[in-house]
Amino acid sequence: MKRHTLILLLLGFTVSGGLRAQKVVTATHGVVVSAHALASQAGLDILKKGGNAVDAAITTELTLAVVFPGAGNIGGGGFMIAHLADGRSLALDFREAAPEKASRDMYIDSTGKARTDWSQTGHLACGVPGTIAGMFAAHPYGRLPFRELIQPAIDLAENGFVLNESEAANLNNTRETFLKNNTVPIAFVRDRPWKAGDTLVQKDLAATLRRIRDKGAKGFYEGETAAYIVAEMHRGGGLISLEDLRSYKAKERAILTFPYRSYTVLTMPMPSSGGLLLGQMLKMIEHNPALAQGYASAAADQLMIEAERRAFADRATFMGDPDFVKVPVVTLLSDKYLQGRMQDFTPGKAGSSQNIQAGVIAPESTETTHFDVIDKDGNCVSVTTTLNGWYGSKTVAGKAGFFLNNEMDDFSIKPGVPNMFGAIGGTANAIQPHKRMLSSMTPTIVLRDGKPFLIAGTPGGTTIPTSVFQTIVDIIDFHLSPEDAVNVPKFHHQWLPDEVDLEKGFPDTTAASLAQMGYTLKHWGRIGATEVIMIQPDGTYKGVADGRGNDAAAGY
Ligand code: DON
Repeated sequence: MKRHTLILLLLGFTVSGGLRAQKVVTATHGVVVSAHALASQAGLDILKKGGNAVDAAITTELTLAVVFPGAGNIGGGGFMIAHLADGRSLALDFREAAPEKASRDMYIDSTGKARTDWSQTGHLACGVPGTIAGMFAAHPYGRLPFRELIQPAIDLAENGFVLNESEAANLNNTRETFLKNNTVPIAFVRDRPWKAGDTLVQKDLAATLRRIRDKGAKGFYEGETAAYIVAEMHRGGGLISLEDLRSYKAKERAILTFPYRSYTVLTMPMPSSGGLLLGQMLKMIEHNPALAQGYASAAADQLMIEAERRAFADRATFMGDPDFVKVPVVTLLSDKYLQGRMQDFTPGKAGSSQNIQAGVIAPESTETTHFDVIDKDGNCVSVTTTLNGWYGSKTVAGKAGFFLNNEMDDFSIKPGVPNMFGAIGGTANAIQPHKRMLSSMTPTIVLRDGKPFLIAGTPGGTTIPTSVFQTIVDIIDFHLSPEDAVNVPKFHHQWLPDEVDLEKGFPDTTAASLAQMGYTLKHWGRIGATEVIMIQPDGTYKGVADGRGNDAAAGY
């Protein structure tokens, strides 16, 4: 842990969009932490202009759609959790939905084979985008006019922004797939390779954003933009229709809340599994003495791994869009059920996913990026938003100039067939028209004595709930600083495959103890990109941007 912190201090910052990306800020008036320095800065500028945290979140989301095209988006979807200073809470679902013409077996070919190539890239992989509907559904909670909130994104698309080395390399590495999956020339491909210092200009995207500024959500879901999306679908064999776009609605959900020790956790309910998994995992470890062995001890890590295994077994069986399937949330989160789930936990001995299946319950009476914002009044927003894979379907919506998602792969395309994150599922998450695919995204706010204490979240597919889980436990139980909680190596178990994924830098001695207990260990390069804002005892805000990428904190 110390070595990690030292490396970060030595590096101190990265540069993106020509801006120095600060990793840690302490501030009193407001903080934004996101995956890109320009997006954090744009959100901060809105706070300085008198916007609240929701306003700043809308600007940050829209700016990410321009400067972070791999995951920031208007062609994808996501979830927003907010806790407002007046006591109101918000859980906003702007997850993509299956098109009307989608069907359960649409990714099974004539030989019966599940075609993950169809569900993961190109036109057929796209769900109906939710982000713009989400931003307009959030807007009544803000203060400033929408046209002011979207203008920074328009300017950055119109005038361009300067690429750094990793951004240029990402575009170059995806060039062939871009060419394969697009039917018109796109801003992301040019005749010579991109290099650091080049400016990426997105004129078509700027025009789309201007239509949204001038016509509201209809500037996306109807008229010219909708026509471009549907024309692209027709050219490439996708399913999204004008009616799918016209009828798409973001949904306010009842926020998922549960206590952990003396804290209150506010997080996303279905159709994200993330919040429920987080609650299950925290409750499964809360009273177990192994936790007292402390941070990175084999005993505590084993306990957390076994909680992760059991929660993910439940995910595969029970969880899906609550408008289509009844998810037994109350039972799955009940102390009695979760105590039962841990009865066969044996300290010092690996469990087995063959023996541990989803729990038995009685019938009951349901590439991604994360950012956090807090303003001077204590309004907090936590948003995770995604195209699913890096650049989503890698298909631009024709002249509309933005990447469409490949979120359909988050459905269970065939029982037992893993999606791109290795997650499997059954009927609860099978494809149906208009259904929202199960997510793992876990935007979260933790309160202490009813007041904001921590805002947290991360990208990373199925590793999202386990990373948020570890971040909370690292801070609350192991007393790590927010800098360390963000940057220490994470570990991950998702029931199947029955293995523990260890992030680079995970302590060798703990890994050796876990191997001795019988765990199969897999070494991974990098897990997630956790962003955190912690409200300190003196009332100041500490924003910590993940040290793994170009992420940046901004505050004043
Ligand atoms: O909703 C989900 O769970 C996934 N579509 C998230 C994808 C993701 O985090 C990719 N980023 N690393």
